[in-house]
Amino acid sequence: MNIALIGYGKMGKAIEDVALRRGHTITCKISSSNLQDFNPRVLQWADVAIEFSTPESAYNNLRQCMEIGVPVISGTTGWLNKKTEIEQLCIEKQGTFLYASNFSIGVNIFFELNKLLAQMMNKYEVYDVDIQEIHHTAKLDKPSGTAITVANDIIERLERKKVWTISKPENPFTRDLFIESRREDPAPGTHIVTYRSEIDDVEITHTAHSRLGFAKGAVLAAEWILGKKGVFSMKDVLEIDQ
Ligand SMILES: NC(=O)c1ccc[n+]([C@@H]2O[C@H](COP(=O)([O-])OP(=O)(O)OC[C@H]3O[C@@H](n4cnc5c(N)ncnc54)[C@H](OP(=O)(O)O)[C@@H]3O)[C@@H](O)[C@H]2O)c1
Repeated sequence: MNIALIGYGKMGKAIEDVALRRGHTITCKISSSNLQDFNPRVLQWADVAIEFSTPESAYNNLRQCMEIGVPVISGTTGWLNKKTEIEQLCIEKQGTFLYASNFSIGVNIFFELNKLLAQMMNKYEVYDVDIQEIHHTAKLDKPSGTAITVANDIIERLERKKVWTISKPENPFTRDLFIESRREDPAPGTHIVTYRSEIDDVEITHTAHSRLGFAKGAVLAAEWILGKKGVFSMKDVLEIDQ
């Protein structure tokens, strides 16, 4: 498979390593120094584009992929208020788009555990809940895209939480779901959901040991999406659903 890398930073390079080891070819590597190469003439050689860039550039990059007509996998975080627009454009153009705030298989299992736990906890109002996410200091956005997914999944299932917040509520048991973001090195990514009561805590944790899991998941998604049209998620790739 021919892969175009849109964004060639830490993730782009990790994806390149995995893709080459799986026998794929990298047809272009776009970073801020060669944006002129991000054009239909260069992209025509790609079966799929994998986009891990910056929160500021992701939306335009994805629009451009849709206009060019190349299927695109994206993992960039911090731009999701515009995700619906990209999904609509994908449908309009009969294109192919897969987004995941986290490509690791373990995190996607963690997402499902989180949903199940929130459903179970809905009737046990003695438990308050909060989320902690810990990442390396170079991470630009706060809270992490993964923490936002976890928070939204809780809010959909736990009636006593209505919105997520990054400001610590003064009292527990408010309608706000607190996400604490910590930045320390080295930390590829840890997410902890804790339900706290006077008697005990119930906690689920996902800890990434390296970027490899994200890179492998992104390449797996690129292989899976070949020949498909529409808007997809990692749930489709991994066939995990409660
Ligand atoms: N979904 C997941 O599983 C997952 C996992 C890890 C990270 N992420 C997210 O993926 C994104 C990238 O992470 P990273 O660690 O690879 O960041 P990074 O090391 O800072 O790399 C960002 C890359 O984007 C390039 N870039 C800047 N402007 C661009 C533009 N207009 N068009 C195309 N590329 C451009 C940068 O080029 P220069 O170096 O020349 O500026 C660099 O190559 C972040 O949003 C991060 O949160 C997601």
